[in-house]
Amino acid sequence: MLELDDIQHFLFTRPRAMAARYGFLTFRDPVQARAYLTGVLDKVGTVASVANATVLDSRWVTIAFTWNGLRALGLDEMSLATFPEEFRQGMAARAAILGDTGASHPDSWTGQLASSDLHAIVILFAHDVAERERSVREHQRYAGRYPGVQALSFLDPEALPPHEYAHDHFGYRDRLSQVVVKGTGDVPRPGSGDPLEPGEFILGYPDEDSPSPPIPKPEILVRNGSYLAYRQLQEHVGRFRDFLRQHGKTPDEQEFIAAKLMGRWRSGAPLVLAPDKDDPGLGQDMRRNNDFGYKQMDPFGYAVPLGSHIRRMNPRDTAVNINRRRMIRRGATYGPALPEGATEDGVERGVAAFVGCASLVRQFEFAQNVWINDPNFNELGNERDPIIGNQDGTFDITIPKRPIRRKITGLPAFTTVRAGAYFFLPGLRALHWLSKLGQ
Ligand code: HEM
Repeated sequence: MLELDDIQHFLFTRPRAMAARYGFLTFRDPVQARAYLTGVLDKVGTVASVANATVLDSRWVTIAFTWNGLRALGLDEMSLATFPEEFRQGMAARAAILGDTGASHPDSWTGQLASSDLHAIVILFAHDVAERERSVREHQRYAGRYPGVQALSFLDPEALPPHEYAHDHFGYRDRLSQVVVKGTGDVPRPGSGDPLEPGEFILGYPDEDSPSPPIPKPEILVRNGSYLAYRQLQEHVGRFRDFLRQHGKTPDEQEFIAAKLMGRWRSGAPLVLAPDKDDPGLGQDMRRNNDFGYKQMDPFGYAVPLGSHIRRMNPRDTAVNINRRRMIRRGATYGPALPEGATEDGVERGVAAFVGCASLVRQFEFAQNVWINDPNFNELGNERDPIIGNQDGTFDITIPKRPIRRKITGLPAFTTVRAGAYFFLPGLRALHWLSKLGQ
């Protein structure tokens, strides 16, 4: 039985938040850090409390810790040592495995996220920007009582207009393919696959391979927790639009290329179901827009190139053991939209994303290392994910086509990693337990 009244809401519910503050904290003093946590934890929403929230609730709090943060709170060395190595090392130390080199290397990250001083993220979700500002002021007043808790940096994501549907700065409709977890009560939409065992995402439950996978200690801290891989990805919108113009003579051709990079039209319509022409009605139809596979419907990639973003990130029925590789995606856009027709203005904008999972290595790091950045994935030879792969101008994208495929060489980087971190997202009981360490 999933303890929905203990699990933080973050991975399972989507509050009606149009704005957020991601606050990155460092703890200089364990006693003050725990006192700070004591006051915050009553405001942390669980899956159950947020699902039952009324329209009057317009803010939601989430808190998660790095491994250094758990230590700074006073967790003992025996327990710290039971956490998996990748979490202990932190994301910056995993740069070579993740493909974070060149402009995406942690040496260039912002906000001190590559530093071992990064201890926690506190996320204030708010219904709108005004509510976010109120929430931020309240949090600052509260945190100001604890000089041993200091802000390293912050990011203020906001949904991009038009607000009727989620989309990123490149203009792609998002939040279409969602993992469904057994015990949450969510019903999978056509094409989303069977509900997965909760242990794929939440520690302390059966996963797709075992009725009782091992977890770190003590159980009170770890049960109902998840790992979060956080990525602040800058989107180079001007470069992306220049690329489309360079390779597509007409607006229709440009849309076609944009669709081939993603595997969906920007409207959200999947290329498997709408291979030749966009179908915006399909794109917004949540009963139909995820109802496809690749094995029978598009084995050679004539619709969805084998190297496109969605086919890499979820090869669906063409991958072995796919249920062990799924990820829960959360996140938001940050920075102002670049108006259509405007030239690149040098302002940073992008996606601040979280991948939730039970194993950073098996799920997130595998995706980064193999699906995103291995040039020979799917025997493609010289390709990386065209949207989030580490591109340096030397890789291609192949668009299968009869009689002759089209290959675009020398892809530029459309995204750059600006920051990242691994967090542990504890359940509510665990937060209480942490706040009382040492007593
Ligand atoms: C700038 C960064 C990114 C952009 C613009 C982007 C965009 C998109 C879009 C538009 C979709 C299709 C909508 C949907 O299926 O819900 C998608 C799907 C997906 N993306 Fe990304 N994404 C980004 C980063 C990431 C990262 C960092 C990961 C994980 C490491 C990721 C994993 C996925 C997965 C698993 C899917 C679902 C594929 C499926 O089930 O068919 N994406 N992304």
